[in-house]
Amino acid sequence: MKIIQSAKQLQQEILLLKQQEKKIGFVPTMGNLHQGHLSLVDIAKTKSDIVVASIFVNPMQFGQGEDLDKYPRTLSEDIDKLEALEIDYLFTPTNQEIYPQGKDCHTSVEVNRLSENLCGASRPGHFRGVTTVVNILFNIVQPDIAVFGKKDYQQFQIIKAMVKDLMLPIQIIGGGIIREDNGLAMSSRNMYLTEHQKIEASYLRKIILSTAESIRQGMSFSQAQLEAKEHLASKGFKIDYFEIMGRSILQPATQQDKKLLIVAAAWLGKPKLLDNLEIDLV
Ligand code: PAJ
Repeated sequence: MKIIQSAKQLQQEILLLKQQEKKIGFVPTMGNLHQGHLSLVDIAKTKSDIVVASIFVNPMQFGQGEDLDKYPRTLSEDIDKLEALEIDYLFTPTNQEIYPQGKDCHTSVEVNRLSENLCGASRPGHFRGVTTVVNILFNIVQPDIAVFGKKDYQQFQIIKAMVKDLMLPIQIIGGGIIREDNGLAMSSRNMYLTEHQKIEASYLRKIILSTAESIRQGMSFSQAQLEAKEHLASKGFKIDYFEIMGRSILQPATQQDKKLLIVAAAWLGKPKLLDNLEIDLV
């Protein structure tokens, strides 16, 4: 695995590989890698000749008071994990490399509407930071495919919309959510949970599953949502949102919608936990 910090150098190497008609697969991350990230690398490996991963803690997607400085940085462990998967390139740019003039005077890319609700509502500017950096990374890596986790479902849909709207020749692939044994979705934020909270956190998944069951049995979306919120609150969660959405547009589902997404964000103690479930009604 070759570790590269320079955008120009990586661009040049990729250009040579493209001349040899190699298919490039890309997995962008912010590091502190766990099995969720590594599963995306596995997907990229099966779908491309050359796999590039990136680790860049992107300042543009952190709001004020969101503890950019405290984001866990574990580069040497991350390198070991990626080496073990035998990927080809790891791109680890500095802030200066990505935002030479500073992030505040950099060109930005924004996907309207999809970025505004759910996590976008409580984190203004967050998705603008994500789409901007992913665009920059796409222009450096020039991938044929890129893999994103469905754990961050809104991010996944926003990236798909960006690629479509800007006509980028990149196929976006979604990887399923990787979970702990008790069902808790793996996340860098889980390290802020106490051992007891880790057990309690599994209720988020359980309540989403029981909501899906209620919907399948014909309960109205509004009733199912209300019951889920009450249940979550009774387990000590502070709810940011719990929604039943039409899955591609991420707007509240109507009873006519068949392709649904139950999507939730709730704090348990310090961290905000995200989870979701795709359901198809027949
Ligand atoms: P990060 O939080 O490091 O996540 C990198 C990728 O891993 C994302 O696509 C995310 O959805 C995926 N992922 C995280 N936990 C997962 C899990 N339990 N199962 C499956 N996939 C999981 O998301 C970002 O970084 C950044 O916003 C980024 C896209 C890199 C732009 O800065």
